[in-house]
Amino acid sequence: MTSTSRTSGPDRWQHYGASSRGRRSLSRLHWDWYQRIGPGAELLGDLAGRTVAELGAGAGHQAAYVATELKAARVIAIDSSTAQHSRGRDLYEDVPGLDFVHDDAAAYLRDHPSSLDVAYSIFGALDFSDPQTLLPSVAVALRSGGTLVFSTLAHYRTGAPPETECRPADIPTRRPDGRPGTMQRWVLGVSVWTELLDEHGFDVMHGDTVHDPGRDGEAPVATTLFRARTKRGSGAPHLLSYEVPDSEARPAGGNRPTAG
Ligand SMILES: C[S@@+](CC[C@H](N)C(=O)[O-])C[C@H]1O[C@@H](n2cnc3c(N)ncnc32)[C@H](O)[C@@H]1O
Repeated sequence: MTSTSRTSGPDRWQHYGASSRGRRSLSRLHWDWYQRIGPGAELLGDLAGRTVAELGAGAGHQAAYVATELKAARVIAIDSSTAQHSRGRDLYEDVPGLDFVHDDAAAYLRDHPSSLDVAYSIFGALDFSDPQTLLPSVAVALRSGGTLVFSTLAHYRTGAPPETECRPADIPTRRPDGRPGTMQRWVLGVSVWTELLDEHGFDVMHGDTVHDPGRDGEAPVATTLFRARTKRGSGAPHLLSYEVPDSEARPAGGNRPTAG
């Protein structure tokens, strides 16, 4: 399945991963930068019978694993890049229960309220979109109590510390014609992510940082991991009204809670 694309601008992902062709047979799910250490699929919980979306699924390697090995009822692999979307479809379109959607993740999620049990991102859309737009869209698309799991850089790849406010940096990339260009990446500190999640209707269930010192000359890279759940009753705006029963009423002059 392919939805209408609402992506715009030159494709910054045309050259990414273009040289590594072919399906990947993953032995397990990884969240860390080098895809070799740290927690695995247990962060997603039991997916049997669940509807799951990967936000920024790229070539679909992880989404195919989630569909085949973790037995999700349906996995929606969303990616805004034309090149990445095509790679995913070419490689894994025949996997039962796996659908590829070519769209901006926030736009797709807003159009599909209460449709998902679990959403996840592995250095995906949450790294490359404004979280102030994407997180509320994830909250809309998840059913009450639904789960969001994501991994993101704990620091810039140069080793520079993450941002202490929600702001992106321009990082180098290649334009479709091969010339150098830039794109925005959100590399945020743990406390910034924690505040954003709270602000947009999530309770953090688990947070972790996975440090990989690098092998054979690789740069050390730390990955931030979050598992969060939509707050029950979050989503549609509502007013709470609470009348204290007479038997509990405070003495005259006391405070009387009527709203929360
Ligand atoms: C670094 S790749 C990661 C792909 C995959 N998760 C993996 O680990 O191989 C990031 C992907 O996120 C996609 N992406 C970035 N912003 C997006 C957005 N707003 N909506 C959908 N996809 C997005 C890009 O097109 C790219 O394919």
